[in-house]
Amino acid sequence: MSAAAFPDVFTDLVATQRSFLRDVVVAAAWDLGLTDLPERARRILCDVLRLEGLEGLALPAHRPSLPDTGLGALAQVIRSGIPLDVGPDQTAYHAHLLSLAPAPGALLSAWLHARGVRHLADLGGGHGGYTEAWLGADPTHTATLVDAAPIAAAASERLSAHARRLHCIGGDLLATSHVEADAALLCNVLHLLDPVSAATTVHQAARSVRPGGWVVVKDLHVDAAHAGTLEGLYFAVTMLAYTAGGDAHDEPTLRHWMADAGLEDVAVIPPWPVAGSITLVGVRPA
Ligand SMILES: C[S@@+](CC[C@H](N)C(=O)[O-])C[C@H]1O[C@@H](n2cnc3c(N)ncnc32)[C@H](O)[C@@H]1O
Repeated sequence: MSAAAFPDVFTDLVATQRSFLRDVVVAAAWDLGLTDLPERARRILCDVLRLEGLEGLALPAHRPSLPDTGLGALAQVIRSGIPLDVGPDQTAYHAHLLSLAPAPGALLSAWLHARGVRHLADLGGGHGGYTEAWLGADPTHTATLVDAAPIAAAASERLSAHARRLHCIGGDLLATSHVEADAALLCNVLHLLDPVSAATTVHQAARSVRPGGWVVVKDLHVDAAHAGTLEGLYFAVTMLAYTAGGDAHDEPTLRHWMADAGLEDVAVIPPWPVAGSITLVGVRPA
C-alpha cells in the first residue's frame, strides 16, 4: 500500500494476520492435496501458494498447527461444501465497513456529482456508509438504499437525520430492480455471491439506472493473471470459508458481467487510491 492509499476492507487484516492466513492455506493444502478439489477451492488455494512462493512441491515440511475452528477448519469446509456460520451478530462487521466507507465514498461522490448524478441507488448498501458520504457531499443529493430487510431498517434508523432525502428498501437484489436512479453502486457486494448470482445482480443494477446512467462496481482487486493484490487473493480465502460461492471475482470477470448487462464504456475510475480495491464504471446506453 502506498503512503497515499486509504485502507480498505481487508488491508489491516492482511497486514496483521498474513502469516496466520498463509498457514490456513498451507494446512488446507496439506490436508486435501491440490489436485482433487472443486475448481474454486483449488484456484483460491493455488493463487495464495503461488503468491507466497509455495506452489507445488514447495509446501513446508510440516503442517502448520492451527485451531480447528474458524478459518482453521478450512479443509473441513472445502470437504463438506458447507461454509462457516458467520453468526447472528454482525454488528462488528458493519461497524468495520462503516469505518472504511468515508474516503472511497467521498471519492465516488465527487466523481458521480461531476457527471450530473443526483439520485443514487446504493445496492447492498449495508448500514449506509457510502450513502452517508453521498448525502453529506451535497444538499441536492438523494438516495435509495437496498439491502436485506433488517439491514435496510438499521441503515434507515442510523441515517434518520437524512430521512427527507433517503429511502431505504428491504429487498433481494437478485429478485427485482427496485429503483430508477441516475447511478447505482455495488460496493463490496459481488464478492459475497457466486458467479451466477453476481452476474444477475449486475443485470439488476443496470436496470436500476435511467438510460445514460452509471453503474459502479467497487470490490477487491484481482488482476487477470491472479498475481495482483495481496488483499484480493487472501480475501478470496475468507470467501471460500464463509460463503457458498463467493470470491474475489477477478477484473476480467467483473468487466464481462458489466458488458453482458448491456453497460458500455466500462472503465476503471482513476486515480483510485484505496488499497487493494478496484472501481469499475459502465454506462447504460441512452
Ligand atoms: C459487505 S456488505 C457492503 C456494504 C456497503 N456496500 C459497504 O461497502 O460498506 C454487502 C451487503 O450486501 C448485501 N447483500 C448481498 N446480497 C444481497 C441480496 N441478494 N439482496 C440484498 N442485499 C444483499 C448484504 O446484506 C450486505 O449488507
